[in-house]
Amino acid sequence: MLNVVDIPQALQDNFFMKVDYHSKIIDVFSDIDSHRVTAEIIRKHSTNRRDVREVAIEGLDLFHARRILEMGCGFGFFTEALKGRVSPGARIIGIDVVEGYRDVFMETCARAGIDGTFIHGDASVIRDFEDRSFDAVICSYSLYFFPHIIGEVARISDEHAVLVATVHNSDSLKELVGFTRDMLVENGMIDREAVFPIEALITSFSSENGYELLEPWFGGIIRKTYENTLVFEPGDMYSLMEYFRFKWPLFLSGLSPRDVARAFDLFEVYLQRHFNRSRDGFRITKDDTIFVCSKPRYRRDKR
Ligand SMILES: C[S@@+](CC[C@H](N)C(=O)[O-])C[C@H]1O[C@@H](n2cnc3c(N)ncnc32)[C@H](O)[C@@H]1O
Repeated sequence: MLNVVDIPQALQDNFFMKVDYHSKIIDVFSDIDSHRVTAEIIRKHSTNRRDVREVAIEGLDLFHARRILEMGCGFGFFTEALKGRVSPGARIIGIDVVEGYRDVFMETCARAGIDGTFIHGDASVIRDFEDRSFDAVICSYSLYFFPHIIGEVARISDEHAVLVATVHNSDSLKELVGFTRDMLVENGMIDREAVFPIEALITSFSSENGYELLEPWFGGIIRKTYENTLVFEPGDMYSLMEYFRFKWPLFLSGLSPRDVARAFDLFEVYLQRHFNRSRDGFRITKDDTIFVCSKPRYRRDKR
């Protein structure tokens, strides 16, 4: 079992993250059932009815891809979309820092008809992989956890390989971030200047800085935009609370357990008040970019 976790600098510098980055990530993602429910909430409340995975792989010829890697695979949301799109006999390795995804990832591979292997560990385990050993690498909503190893992704990519990475705009979730910050500041629980882990995370690799971070490592980069808003009507208040409950360690870490409990109570009260006042419900910006990268440059990453 590997559990060495490299902490991106932006997160190390973050006040909240000093609490313990590794345990926060595990706190959020080890609740696999909640992760699934949250994925369904996102799907149901999205204004963009297109499947982001379809947009990501549209126009891509992956039929030559035999050696595939999904980093931060979770339950294999993206792997599922590769069914019938990759080479017969293709093999896929899923890496995730949460061991609990092993069985669900393997089940997804079976459904997709792709021979799968799950590695429990930090994404930096790819440093042990051979040069040019993958035809396709997928990072679906995960590259912002490990932007510091993009050079290694290039190194393990074959010269005809493609990297597909889905990330958020830096202002994604701004309404939820603003709402939570106002609530916590008003109740004397944080300073207004405090940066939530979720903000540091999203901005560590985003639509805005992604090209700049990828360009030293890939000669071909295509950007696809995926505009989306999550809309919660007054009757959807409990879905929004469930969404917040899943993500809370990335908003409220650094608070005492008592303050976390208080924050949840306040969140419900504030949300109720918001829904009483607003006819538009609660709208959350959630625009993404899909980067499709080719022509890896073989320079050694700093280890
Ligand atoms: C937002 S989820 C995305 C999961 C999946 N790719 C999807 O699209 O549904 C991020 C995933 O990355 C994993 N993760 C976070 N940090 C990681 C790291 N340093 N190394 C490997 N996996 C990591 C989490 O456990 C989680 O499963």
